[in-house]
Amino acid sequence: MIIAVDGPAASGKGTLARRIAAHLGYAHLDTGKLYRAVGLAVLREGHDPADAAAAEAAARALDPNALDDPALSGDVAAQAASKVAAIEGVRQALLAFQRHFAQHPPGGNAGAVLDGRDVGTVVCPDADIKFFVTASMPVRAERRHKELLNRGEASIYARVLQDLRERDARDSARAVAPLKPAQDAIVLDTTRMDADAAFASAVRHIEAVVNGGAPER
Ligand code: C5P
Repeated sequence: MIIAVDGPAASGKGTLARRIAAHLGYAHLDTGKLYRAVGLAVLREGHDPADAAAAEAAARALDPNALDDPALSGDVAAQAASKVAAIEGVRQALLAFQRHFAQHPPGGNAGAVLDGRDVGTVVCPDADIKFFVTASMPVRAERRHKELLNRGEASIYARVLQDLRERDARDSARAVAPLKPAQDAIVLDTTRMDADAAFASAVRHIEAVVNGGAPER
């Protein structure tokens, strides 16, 4: 069983994917971390994340099993990620690992939940269930801002809003694997939903599919 959870930054897709995986006992992969790790590696080598040769080399050298650097969750990594993510060679270099994870979930789990931007469209177009999680820009910015403050990090709402706008624009406009819902994705707009409501809605859809019906729309 493969469940794809895509959506823009700070939409709540990561939280939802983790909760679904824990609920079903499936393996979870945050595919954004792969791009963040490549972006950070390029910066640390003193290159521009938009430098295709440097970014491709970093993607090929990446150890996808070593993604626990706390710096990966920061905004520097996020911005660099969205630049390397627009480079086709980078996406190609990361594809095999993601597909293998989905088809052979580590730990012998019966299924995998992958979250990102192109899981339902490119990585696993045959996923059993696809969610596209979204929310209005101000709500996403507010959530991200609060998350940073709760982590004890300095945050300015206007700066967070600007950062999300830039990333959304880059992720949606790129030629390769742009951010868009798969045609058969269930769209979950969480603008007026908290994390519990989004989870409950996702579980209803999953149960409908597991019990043999078509996903609820
Ligand atoms: O989801 P997260 O915010 O960690 O992703 C960071 C960046 O990585 C995104 O802005 C996007 O450019 C890129 N990404 C991607 N495809 C994915 C996951 C992330 O292009 N499947």
